[in-house]
Amino acid sequence: MSFLSNLNWRYATKKFDTTKKVSDEDLAKILEAIRMTPTSFGMMPYHFYIVTNPDILLQIQPIAWGQPQITTCSHLIIFAARSDLIANKDEYFDLMSGGNNEVRAQLKWYEDMVTGFAQSKDESAAIAWSARQTYIAHGFALAACAELEIDSCAMEWADFDAVGKILGLPATQKAVVLLPIGYRAEWEAPRGPKVRFTREALFTEIK
Ligand SMILES: Cc1cc2nc3c(=O)[nH]c(=O)nc-3n(C[C@H](O)[C@H](O)[C@H](O)COP(=O)(O)O)c2cc1C
Repeated sequence: MSFLSNLNWRYATKKFDTTKKVSDEDLAKILEAIRMTPTSFGMMPYHFYIVTNPDILLQIQPIAWGQPQITTCSHLIIFAARSDLIANKDEYFDLMSGGNNEVRAQLKWYEDMVTGFAQSKDESAAIAWSARQTYIAHGFALAACAELEIDSCAMEWADFDAVGKILGLPATQKAVVLLPIGYRAEWEAPRGPKVRFTREALFTEIK
């Protein structure tokens, strides 16, 4: 199948076949798609948790409105946004400069700009900005799953403060969206055609 037909094949899977697990090889591809996500300034202000621990999944399910995806999926990927943008910036510039002070000095104009940006954000503005980057990673993961014909369900119906407590997340991270992945349960009701606004409704060409 082509990528576009795979996007039509995929759907928000509610129940997964608990006997089928995503292979380590395919999981690595999905995580690599996440890793390759573009972000504003290239900052990567996020962290991801790949949960297979059944006790933790059982704790998360009730605070995700009892949705069956949580306990039937093969892996639950939890997308967390970072609020510690200065520390995030330091890690990024350490990485870019490879610890070389000369390279770091050449990047000073860029680092100063990013520092100013990071300092201008209070905690909630930082999380709001990081969450937007995190959702791009989430979209990349959704697309990677479709490409691999692995089922998934974007999920934001959950109490994310409670998710953070269950995972013991640091105060500088906030879980913002979930992605259970696996293989659709055969007995799940077949879906009708996709409901999408028409191209005419969605796109305006400005020539
Ligand atoms: C950000 C986001 C959050 C969503 N949250 C949930 C959710 O918590 N539970 C759920 O069953 N579906 C959830 N969905 C799935 C959407 O309802 C679904 O993607 C949409 O209706 C389109 O259907 P399709 O994905 O099958 O094409 C979410 C989708 C997105 C993009």
